[in-house]
Amino acid sequence: MPVDTVLYNAKLYVEGRILEGGLAVDNGKIVRIAKEANLPSATRRVDLRRLLVLPGIIDAHVHLRDQLRSPDEDFYTGTSAAVAGGITTVLDMPNNIPVTMSAASLRKRMQLAEPSILADVGFFSAFPENIEAIDEVVKEGAIAFKLYLTEQIGGLNIDDDKLLSQAFKKAGELDVPVAVHAEDRRMVEDAVEAERKQGKNDVKAYLRAHSPEVEAEAVGRILGVAYDSNAHIHFCHISSKKSIILIHNARNKGLRVSCEATPHHLLLSNEKLRKLGTLALTDPPFRNDNIRNELWDAVKEAKIDIVASDHAPHLMAHKVALSVWNMKPGVPGLETMLSLLLTKVNEGQLTLGEVVRLTAEKPAEIFQLRGRGFLKEGYIANLTVVDMHQQSRVDPSQFYSKAKYSPFEGWSLKGLPVRTFINGCQVMKEGEIVADYGTGRILRKESPT
Ligand code: NCD
Ligand code: ZN
Repeated sequence: MPVDTVLYNAKLYVEGRILEGGLAVDNGKIVRIAKEANLPSATRRVDLRRLLVLPGIIDAHVHLRDQLRSPDEDFYTGTSAAVAGGITTVLDMPNNIPVTMSAASLRKRMQLAEPSILADVGFFSAFPENIEAIDEVVKEGAIAFKLYLTEQIGGLNIDDDKLLSQAFKKAGELDVPVAVHAEDRRMVEDAVEAERKQGKNDVKAYLRAHSPEVEAEAVGRILGVAYDSNAHIHFCHISSKKSIILIHNARNKGLRVSCEATPHHLLLSNEKLRKLGTLALTDPPFRNDNIRNELWDAVKEAKIDIVASDHAPHLMAHKVALSVWNMKPGVPGLETMLSLLLTKVNEGQLTLGEVVRLTAEKPAEIFQLRGRGFLKEGYIANLTVVDMHQQSRVDPSQFYSKAKYSPFEGWSLKGLPVRTFINGCQVMKEGEIVADYGTGRILRKESPT
């Protein structure tokens, strides 16, 4: 029996090496990686013309919105943006309307997503009010929990360390990671109030209120609470050296802890905000070049585990506001993340191995996404095919995302995803979506075996 598809005349990134040959796919899985002569016969043969095949890229921080936030983004436009950007699996955040915070709300979201998605999607949940209900949410298939510390999203009182500790213990028992948006609510609120009293409502006031110190404060607090639990704590969009040192020290003491950086924190400094204004504001905001360089050092020293986009689309009307306190923070990132990183590979700042580790291997490990993150026989046939030589310019008017703006607008990039395969099916070819919605699958946390 011939297999479904053979991709031949390719270069393949297999465990740190680049092999020349091809890959056979059957029933959505990789069944053979071999030199051309050793590949099985197939119903469909695709000539990859020596392009490079990477493990399907995973973006562990995405706001797909939909439901009552469909004007910002929906499952179809969000996952179209993902596959256009070479991303095959996304993890969706719970700050939706309604908030994802119970078995019922999670089930509803999965049902709505399933027929619409082009990429594979796993879901974060916020914590439910009742700690005992955490079991049900996990049984329903939540991949991880997300804890916001700037404001309460979900049922858990974020000011109560005892409750946080109970929730972490439960998550540890069930072996579900907890991702944290670390900014201390009281410090931010006090700072915002002080700025407002002085009539300050510009980008600079926002930067002062969302300082690196409010992040480090929250990181320190959460690490303290996490010590007597076995939970894996993952810090989202870390943006200061102080936080990284705290996280690294905790890890050395045996705590299960990881952290993430975004392309915008690595590549943009707050100097740019003067020109870009509120459109480019995101939470946490971009830092100065010193901090940015320290983030790069942490990437190179593998103290930052993953890079994720924090794709946070908003209506343009919510991005441009006279007072910074009325604008919604967040920028889209799905369609620029991989090309930006590949550009850094071409410039010599990153190795291809680092990009694959940060955006495929490590996110698969941290969020326990079995069968993902590597090109391996038996693994899911999610593939990101890139042309390392192709140049492009960031043009947000061409985004599949509903958010047609970007802090990277006009940037010249070198290195582009040119084909994306999801479960063995080609969904993107040279920037065009070539599959029907419903090609993606819902990921559910697998019960321990
Ligand atoms: C996020 C959003 O828009 O959902 N925005 C952001 O700036 N990162 C919310 C959040 O994570 O604070
Ligand atoms: Zn966040």
